Amino acid sequence: MPNPTKYLFVIAIGFAAALTNPPAWAQDAQTAAPAATEIQQLEEALTPYVMPKSGPFRPDRIAITQAAAIAAWAGSPHANASSESFAHWNREGEIPPVCASCHSGAGFREFHGLDGSTPGMSKIPTPTGGVVDCETCHNANLAQIAEIRFPSGLMHPVATAGEAPCLTCHQGRAAGANVAKAVADKDADTPDAELGFINPHYAVAAASWLGGYGASGYHYPGKEYSGRFFHARPVTTCASCHEPHSLKVAEEACLTCHQEAATGDIRLSRLSYDGSGDLTKGISADIAANAGVLKQMFTEYAAQVAGTAMVYDGHRYPYFFADANNDGRADEKDGKPVAYKSWTPRLLKAVFNWKFVTSDAGIYAHNPHYALELLYDSIEDLADLMNRDLAAMGIHR
Ligand code: HEC
Ligand code: HEC
Ligand code: HEC
Ligand code: HEC
Ligand code: HEC
Repeated sequence: MPNPTKYLFVIAIGFAAALTNPPAWAQDAQTAAPAATEIQQLEEALTPYVMPKSGPFRPDRIAITQAAAIAAWAGSPHANASSESFAHWNREGEIPPVCASCHSGAGFREFHGLDGSTPGMSKIPTPTGGVVDCETCHNANLAQIAEIRFPSGLMHPVATAGEAPCLTCHQGRAAGANVAKAVADKDADTPDAELGFINPHYAVAAASWLGGYGASGYHYPGKEYSGRFFHARPVTTCASCHEPHSLKVAEEACLTCHQEAATGDIRLSRLSYDGSGDLTKGISADIAANAGVLKQMFTEYAAQVAGTAMVYDGHRYPYFFADANNDGRADEKDGKPVAYKSWTPRLLKAVFNWKFVTSDAGIYAHNPHYALELLYDSIEDLADLMNRDLAAMGIHR
């Protein structure tokens, strides 16, 4: 892990050395003014220490280049070495290549061949201890990456070298195609022991951003899906909204085009997707409401049609657990919660789309329409069996 304090330390050593051993020109300065050329030469020799253009020698006035970027990054999730995203493999001491490409700067460089290796999945595990370091995104070889492969198989051309890193790591690990393949021609409502929960993975912003074109959600046959959310120029890529070091959303920038002070309150749509008729709340609220309806419906479906009640626990993998005795809590075996095992094709599709949409906390800004379509189609697929009348619910696609 690159340690910003290390840079500061090196600079401090430089200062300390300069102060305890004053260079010749500083001693001379007490007697006679040195020749200008001499000072220039010394300044050049000392450029790494960012000497001021002219004296007096004041450490407090000397800017450390990149300090702002380093400080913003150091406080961001990308630099948080103790988070589950980086510490998950600490006990093993190494990260398998299939995980390291996104969970370590070194693994990412190896995956793309930025470190001189052959591009593609490495065969060697990456030592733990790495985070999303500076060299992940500031690397001259990034310009060689022409396209990024998505879980659906899509090869997406990279518009700017700056977005290649974000698209690599925030694309998730599974797509609707994985669900389609797993359910194949199995009967829609018969639990099948071969089926298991398919996890889209986490923070899948780049996948939702590409929408139907990225094909990361499960697409119901015969339905059309909104493509990439182009938004409006100059909002063209991840860094248009996210400061790439702090990762925070530049909320003031939204105000050039939107009126709402909080991003979650932004709304342009004149249609109430959740049937509440409330057009004063943000589009994010419609998405959240329909996601809630879908969760309620697949939970009922699990108990009534698949035959075993299901509970969701977002803090424990694999998140969906069996509740055979219907007490609202996950069944336990040997002190461990029992994973849900009564998956039917219909349930797996709905749950995958729900998890995909809710895995991206910014989906309302990344691609609100795609999110609403996936939720609507999943709800519609369950509606008949669960005796729901979509028209009466008032929800829209
Ligand atoms: C395509 C990139 C990618 C790959 C490949 C990948 N991950 Fe992740 N993973 C992510 C991202 C991005 C997050 C961060 C989510 C967040 O913001 O909390 C994450 C988060 C996690 C978390 C933390 C989840 C939590 O609840 O905080 C775990 C655990 C994890 N990944 C395990 C794995 C394992 C195991 C593998 C390999 C089998 C793997 N990941 C491969 C991108 C990836
Ligand atoms: C996740 C990717 C990413 C990481 C990690 C990252 N940067 Fe950046 N950095 C960028 C992008 C993208 C830009 C261009 C921003 C723009 O176009 O406005 C940038 C711009 C910069 C700039 C130009 C001035 C500025 O702040 O916009 C400096 C200096 C910089 N980065 C230094 C660093 C340092 C030092 C680190 C490590 C501590 C680092 N970056 C880590 C993506 C990253
Ligand atoms: C090498 C993989 C990698 C790259 C490249 C990368 N990220 Fe991340 N990103 C992650 C991981 C892993 C996390 C979760 C970190 C954690 O949990 O502490 C994360 C977290 C985030 C978060 C915060 C999510 C949260 O849960 O709070 C945002 C926002 C984000 N990244 C945006 C970006 C943007 C924008 C870019 C490109 C400029 C980018 N990332 C590049 C892997 C990456
Ligand atoms: C139109 C502006 C916009 C663009 C473009 C954008 N984002 Fe976001 N992003 C947001 C907003 C708003 C949120 C929600 C932030 C919040 O709730 O704090 C968000 C949230 C996220 C999160 C989850 C943070 C969390 O708290 O869990 C990640 C990860 C992320 N964005 C990554 C990306 C990546 C990668 C791209 C490019 C593919 C991107 N974003 C493009 C506005 C944008
Ligand atoms: C240059 C003008 C512009 C900027 C800047 C801008 N937006 Fe937008 N935004 C638009 C336009 C235009 C649309 C409608 C796009 C569409 O539906 O195809 C939109 C749509 C949205 C929507 C969906 C609203 C709905 O009801 O469908 C959200 C959410 C959103 N923007 C969030 C953001 C956030 C967050 C930021 C700042 C990080 C931001 N926007 C910055 C112009 C902008």
